[in-house]
Amino acid sequence: MSKSLARKNGVILALDVTDEKTALTVSREVAEAVDAIKIGYPLVLGTGLSIAEKLSRIAPVIADFKVADIPNTDRLICEHVFDAGCDAVIVQGFTGPDSLTECVKTANEYQKKVFVVAEMSHPGGDHFFTDSVSKEIAAMAKKSGAFGIVAPATRPERVKELRGVIGSGLKIISPGVGAQGGSAADTIKAGADWVIVGRSIYGSKNPREEAEKVKREIEKYI
Ligand code: C5P
Repeated sequence: MSKSLARKNGVILALDVTDEKTALTVSREVAEAVDAIKIGYPLVLGTGLSIAEKLSRIAPVIADFKVADIPNTDRLICEHVFDAGCDAVIVQGFTGPDSLTECVKTANEYQKKVFVVAEMSHPGGDHFFTDSVSKEIAAMAKKSGAFGIVAPATRPERVKELRGVIGSGLKIISPGVGAQGGSAADTIKAGADWVIVGRSIYGSKNPREEAEKVKREIEKYI
């Protein structure tokens, strides 16, 4: 039985390493300080999807595949993700409501979760994801019954605005803390439930210490 996401620390590890040994070592080291491990193409292409089941024994796994296809293909992808032991999948919303609905329907069948990307966190991330597009995607995520959205820690004001769109019913996970310059405390204060942190944790000499640092930075706000 794979683990299910619940907020204790407010930190999610973005595990963009590419080999199994490092992935398992880092995950075991930081397990007590994070609430989930986010995996994506770098790790899964490097090791195979079987890594998900191994990691799911350590912490809940979120599959960041930014799923963006027609409903049938989306469903097939989500089925693989959940069969592999992941607790949640990250999907794109720009493909439209029918694609998103199919992902949510599949997740519900497995009693798993869908997060919808409302806006990216890198400098060019708001080029197409303009304020109004992001808000529309967030509103669609709410309507679809998704578990939450992804909003940028690099723009806490956007996190706040998107929180206003979705209300308190959906969760917000926010990447962009650390290496991309975002502040964990500002992101949580703006309304995020979890910050997602990758390179500044797994790339440090002491990943456990770095994860604890982020955890301590936000503990009084969660
Ligand atoms: O290493 P770093 O902390 O920048 O990692 C951020 C993680 O979040 C990466 O896995 C990246 O792909 C992901 N991500 C992001 N911005 C988004 C969605 C996902 O940075 N909007």
